[in-house]
Amino acid sequence: MSRNRQASTISESEPYLFPSTRYQGSKRKIAQRIVSELSGLDYVRVLDAFGGTAAVSYAFKIAGKHVTYNDALRFNQQVGLALIENDDVTLNDKTTANIGERRSGVNYGLVIQENFGDIYYTDEENRWLDVAVGNIRSIKNQFVQALAWFSLFQSAMSKRPYNLFHRRNLYMRMSNVERSFGNKKTWDRSFEDHFQNFARLASAAVVDGGNNCVSRNQDAMDFDPSAMDLVYIDPPYVSAGGTGVDYHGFYHFLEGMMHYDDWPGMIDRTSKHHRLLTDNNGWCSDKTNENMFRLIFERYASCILAVSYRSDGIPTIEDLVTLLKRYKKSVRVIDISANQYALSNRKHTREMLIVGN
Ligand SMILES: C[S@@+](CC[C@H](N)C(=O)[O-])C[C@H]1O[C@@H](n2cnc3c(N)ncnc32)[C@H](O)[C@@H]1O
Repeated sequence: MSRNRQASTISESEPYLFPSTRYQGSKRKIAQRIVSELSGLDYVRVLDAFGGTAAVSYAFKIAGKHVTYNDALRFNQQVGLALIENDDVTLNDKTTANIGERRSGVNYGLVIQENFGDIYYTDEENRWLDVAVGNIRSIKNQFVQALAWFSLFQSAMSKRPYNLFHRRNLYMRMSNVERSFGNKKTWDRSFEDHFQNFARLASAAVVDGGNNCVSRNQDAMDFDPSAMDLVYIDPPYVSAGGTGVDYHGFYHFLEGMMHYDDWPGMIDRTSKHHRLLTDNNGWCSDKTNENMFRLIFERYASCILAVSYRSDGIPTIEDLVTLLKRYKKSVRVIDISANQYALSNRKHTREMLIVGN
């Protein structure tokens, strides 16, 4: 790809139709603001190194940038394929109708029924999921398949208390008690209904990026700096108390679907909620994440660097600015949540954007 502003086929006024998601740390609400804060800079090729939901990649894409979406979790890469790499494929009713019903010629497994009874979903829902996974895996076109995965993941998160897979807590959904949180109606809405709804939303969000965007599943450090003009860095957040957001732990159930045949052998049987065996991620610990920031700034020092972090985390914004100044002449700090949270009671936690160029 060349560093060429003419290459874009998209006008800046393309609407932001990214579906709302239930993912920890999603920047969907501030994605367009982030991209507009960067609008005065000269860049075309962007690496979204910690892509998550792809909400920020999408804002870059509709601004005409050449986006490389990336995430270390394989299930997230499917979201990048569906909405960032994909320019024109949408889902039709024939593909999505009855996705949880058996079709002739398709192989189905029993992994979810056999390993996750009474953990996240009812037996009937587990059966539905095993069949839906079989049907999605049998889809030939990679973008149709990715859109179907996206719809399944969003459905699965919607039906979970806290939208996570961090506890064995199906009982919360099933017990008949007054709750001050969550939405029992959403939990009890059928998988089929959720799936159809997300399939429509995802299809409506597909936009043409002129064949200039790709989706990857690598470590954030594994890209060639000379192939990028700007790197957007939105790593897992570590709170002031030292607790990091463990994405692998929170979403292991969706990641497992990406390894369906091998999944049983990857489960940590000592955990009550049957999570995947842990991976080591230096970004999730207050002991190691500052060094990870140093390493990533060093690696992509030749690019414009844009970092999202919260104001009350470890390292502090001041520490990150000091670190970034080692590699970049000009460093700017923007309070991205200034308007959004003005009336909220979360005054002490702000979404910050640090830009070095
Ligand atoms: C704060 S979230 C990103 C949110 C994203 N900007 C959005 O708007 O949805 C951090 C993401 O980093 C991913 N991640 C964690 N460690 C990673 C690594 N070493 N390389 C690439 N991605 C990583 C996680 O899977 C998670 O999706």
